[in-house]
Amino acid sequence: MNIVITGVTSGLGKALVNQFQKDIKTNIIGTYRSKQKLSLSKKKIFLFKCDFSSEKDVKNLIKKIKKFGKIDCVINNHASLGNLDYNPKKLFFLNYCSIEYLILKIFKNIKKSKKKLVINISSHAHKNIAVEKKIYELSNWDIYKLSKLSLILFSKKLSNLGLNSISINPGRMKTNFGSSHYLSFFIWLYLFVIGKNPENIAEKIYKIIKNNNFKNGCYYSNFKINKFPTLNKKLKNYIKNTINICKIKN
Ligand SMILES: NC(=O)c1ccc[n+]([C@@H]2O[C@H](COP(=O)([O-])OP(=O)(O)OC[C@H]3O[C@@H](n4cnc5c(N)ncnc54)[C@H](OP(=O)(O)O)[C@@H]3O)[C@@H](O)[C@H]2O)c1
Repeated sequence: MNIVITGVTSGLGKALVNQFQKDIKTNIIGTYRSKQKLSLSKKKIFLFKCDFSSEKDVKNLIKKIKKFGKIDCVINNHASLGNLDYNPKKLFFLNYCSIEYLILKIFKNIKKSKKKLVINISSHAHKNIAVEKKIYELSNWDIYKLSKLSLILFSKKLSNLGLNSISINPGRMKTNFGSSHYLSFFIWLYLFVIGKNPENIAEKIYKIIKNNNFKNGCYYSNFKINKFPTLNKKLKNYIKNTINICKIKN
């Protein structure tokens, strides 16, 4: 099995790699941003540098992934809460549009496999989205929420296009998520106190993938099928417009 896992330097991505490395039948294609942060065993893994906020990096990554031919599974795991380096457009591109672009460009490679599975790591944060503001008025948190909702919808879209796809809210985990955010210490403390171990979450995701134990198109929260978000017309258009503003145009 060839599996792509994005954002493998830390947290859930790293735990997923450790989990899949125990499976001799799996080749892992992992993406990272900074070589200094990589601390993984070299076993059965191909590592590619990709900053998902860069169109150029995403396009280069696609060329490299295509060379593997058949891709059985992709776990879109990377995400950021942003910092001062990100404007809303760049952050939405990183958290959503880069993923949509990657998957649609390697669609045929995924379709070649029997499993043809795309897992989008979402969040409970996808709720209560306000649609009044223009994209440039949105905070990083608003953008994060919107991107996680878009990922849930994207899984549904992919399932209608003939792939298998689910979105998963892994629940709060003891990771360094938000480490570049100005409130990083409080986020870290909060996750440290109430978060689950990413290793346990990775094991559950591994079992879902290996046993094909999922219902196509669904949104899972804490590993149970959750009510699919209902969207009014205004919110649907808002998401569509945001994607159009931020996506790669060619
Ligand atoms: N932790 C939680 O409580 C929680 C709750 C709900 C959902 N989630 C979701 O779970 C997923 C994994 O997060 P985590 O908790 O494991 O946090 P994490 O340790 O911060 O992992 C995030 C990964 O994304 C990568 N990333 C960030 N910005 C990137 C960029 N511009 N280009 C490429 N890669 C980039 C990070 O790479 P660097 O190391 O280079 O920054 C890291 O490998 C995310 O999708 C997150 O939204 C987490």
